Amino acid sequence: MVDQPLREIADERDVRIGAALAPGSLRSDPSYWKRAKDEFNAITPENALKMGPLRPSPKTYDFTDADAIVNFGAAHDKYVRGHTLVWHNQKPDWFEAWEHTDDQIRTFLRDHIHTVAGRYRAKIDAWDVVNEAIADDGSLRETVWSEALGEEYLDLAFEWASEATDADLYYNDYGADAINEKSDAIYDLLEGMLDRGIPVDGVGLQLHALGDHPDPESIGENIERFRELGLDVQITEMDVAFHRGEVPDDPLEVQADYYRDVFEACLDAGCETIVTWGVADASTWLRGFADFPERYTGDPLLFDERYDPKPAYDAVRAVLED
Ligand code: GLA
Repeated sequence: MVDQPLREIADERDVRIGAALAPGSLRSDPSYWKRAKDEFNAITPENALKMGPLRPSPKTYDFTDADAIVNFGAAHDKYVRGHTLVWHNQKPDWFEAWEHTDDQIRTFLRDHIHTVAGRYRAKIDAWDVVNEAIADDGSLRETVWSEALGEEYLDLAFEWASEATDADLYYNDYGADAINEKSDAIYDLLEGMLDRGIPVDGVGLQLHALGDHPDPESIGENIERFRELGLDVQITEMDVAFHRGEVPDDPLEVQADYYRDVFEACLDAGCETIVTWGVADASTWLRGFADFPERYTGDPLLFDERYDPKPAYDAVRAVLED
């Protein structure tokens, strides 16, 4: 008997298992395409919806790659996460040289959000409206957006997004998966936004578990407290690696155990969408980002280089079947 794909098990259970997708692999690699289609009922464009790739010049948009991924999602009945409307990284190259006024930034950001969220109104289910606005010490990160518009830029971004789309609107960040100083700060930020009537629907916990693996029990408690605020919680960018100097004897088993523990804790706490940051180890961002290849092992996902399922895949399947 051929095993039932993960997405069917997830569909039956009414939960979502996702992957971040890259347009080049989707177009050129049939194994990638097939795993993406069969095994996941949720997707996130890994880079294609970021401002840099979308905005070749100040007045133009290039939606080619974003459309390819979003349309793949629509064609195969997937939940689509849009990532991301406002971020301090991966802005267009021309942006750095732009000598702008604060008002120009305001107009630019509003138009960007209206245009991009509006284009995918019928196809994108959830948006990471703002990504990584809080610094590691819990303060508001200083970015071009905060410098031009003050802390209010978050309120404005969510309001502008809600004018253009009916998608659920998320705040997304890293290092805030468990209860800690940063997730406390995000809790306060979102509580304040809700008090002011800002249309924020959820919080995305990225969960890049690279070397440090946040305690699953604390992740569960963190999810619960955000849910008690009235927010949905999703795990948006999960991957699991090890510090090069601290690789256990049986890394694939330890990795599988961590995936299992996190999935159990999240589902128990009422988080029903977990997206992994890629389809297979061959194309993980960890193999190409900054000095990460020297720092971390580069096989953090559910499928290996040959697109074969790993112990982590079996562990996730077992949790979903349970
Ligand atoms: C952050 C961003 C993602 C991605 C990863 C690394 O987590 O939210 O879009 O850039 O870094 O790939």
